[in-house]
Amino acid sequence: MPDTAARPTAVIVLAAGAGTRMKSRTPKILHPLGGRSMIGHALAAARALEPEHLVAVVRHQREKVAEHITEMDPDVVLADQDEIPGTGRAVECGLQALTARGIGADSGTVVVTYGDVPLLTPELLRELVAEHQSTASAVTVLTTELEDPTGYGRVLRSGEEVIGIVEQKDADEAQRQVREINSGIYAFDAAALTQALREVSTDNAQGEKYLTDVLSIARASGRRVSALVTQDRWQVEGANDRVQLQALGAELNRRTVVAAMRAGTTVIDPATTWIDATVTLEEDTTVLPGTQLHGSTHIARDAVVGPDSTLRDVTVGEAAEVTRTHATGAAIGAGSAVGPFSYLRPGTVLGEDGKIGAFYETKNVTVGRGSKLSHLGYAGDTTIGEYTNIGCGNITANYDGEQKHRTVIGSHVRTSSNTVFIAPVEIGDGAYTAAGAVVRKPVPPGALAVSVAPQRNAEGWVKAKRPGSAAARAADAAQAAETPHHTTNDDAPTATD
Ligand code: UD1
Ligand code: CA
Repeated sequence: MPDTAARPTAVIVLAAGAGTRMKSRTPKILHPLGGRSMIGHALAAARALEPEHLVAVVRHQREKVAEHITEMDPDVVLADQDEIPGTGRAVECGLQALTARGIGADSGTVVVTYGDVPLLTPELLRELVAEHQSTASAVTVLTTELEDPTGYGRVLRSGEEVIGIVEQKDADEAQRQVREINSGIYAFDAAALTQALREVSTDNAQGEKYLTDVLSIARASGRRVSALVTQDRWQVEGANDRVQLQALGAELNRRTVVAAMRAGTTVIDPATTWIDATVTLEEDTTVLPGTQLHGSTHIARDAVVGPDSTLRDVTVGEAAEVTRTHATGAAIGAGSAVGPFSYLRPGTVLGEDGKIGAFYETKNVTVGRGSKLSHLGYAGDTTIGEYTNIGCGNITANYDGEQKHRTVIGSHVRTSSNTVFIAPVEIGDGAYTAAGAVVRKPVPPGALAVSVAPQRNAEGWVKAKRPGSAAARAADAAQAAETPHHTTNDDAPTATD
């Protein structure tokens, strides 16, 4: 909090509503955008105010919602709303949950926000609290002006002064013309709030206990009521259906991408770049078109990601290049190269200056500094030392149908094309494998593992078995021109890099 504002006693996040317009088995506020659930964004913004207590009021789909909230932020106090409906009752239940725990919430500032308003920032909340405290108001409501205010509570003023809020369903024709709306986000003087809530009735068009009634009640008792007007309607907008959720998600992404660019990331095409609010990027990073960065992904200085890459919970080291890659739960070392067309699954750790190349799938693999898996293969449950070169088309056969086993490959190893490692198996430092080797037994350091049968050429086979074929004619022509025969060259390793 800035010096000008004191820490709120509590933030109460309202999350008891039903949200039926999502048409979903998942509770509305658990639907994600920008890498967090709606309630996740609301809790993160609330937590950033550093309140003494953070309360979430729950009721609809209580178990799922409560479990999710506790997972997001284990210190949230869960308050159950009873059968009395309305935002006023919800806040009352929130305050009672604190009292029931022996926590006095009747002094200082209490902030109320909604679980389904995901773009609200800590900065705007801080501004609200500062405005509230500097004006010594009983209530300060966050408002905005809308072209179409239909459905919202309208802010009633007498001159400049806020005198109350009237709900759409209770408003007369003149009041419905008002375009300044109640966002539902407020800072309250805790004592005035507790006092006023006792007087709020359910005598209105919806039979609900309206939190908005607190404004007129506070004013009637001679207290000041204020409003902070924001020009940024997105910050107070809620999502009631999937169309609104998409619009909010796109705007959140636009803001995240702009913030990343301002902080030193080059983004070529913001329209096809999706960055979760939880992702971090250092200066001088580049994100190419068609890239999605999710979860706890972190991109270090000078790294280039994309085009067409999806990274979830991936760390990309300095100056690494990740091209057309799908990666989850992986760590990519500084100066290394991944892709194009690589699939990195959880537990993939690529060391500095390493490479995982085209059409490679990896899972639970540690690759040492400078080692390369360049083309066409699968490595699972594997440890690879430093400066090892894995040839084209190598496979670790890590699964025997019942259990997974490890392959351990040393440093400065050279494996030839189409080597298969039958795990568990170990390959010593500086060892080689021959093309097509099926490695079932440990390979000692410096040995060449050969497992294929020697090559035998059945001379004249084509002429005898495929007489008159194009192949036979070609062979005849070649022999007539006395092209030197190819000699057999058994077991020689073939270079692949
Ligand atoms: C409320 C305000 C209205 C404001 C609008 C902004 C009241 C009486 N009206 O409208 O002035 O313009 O928000 O969106 O406060 N909730 C509970 N328990 C309840 C009812 C609601 O926890 O019993 C929660 C909902 O989950 C939601 C929020 O409160 O997060 C707002 O509820 P909603 O029904 O969407 O708002 P309105 O009451 O229509
Ligand atoms: Ca309502």
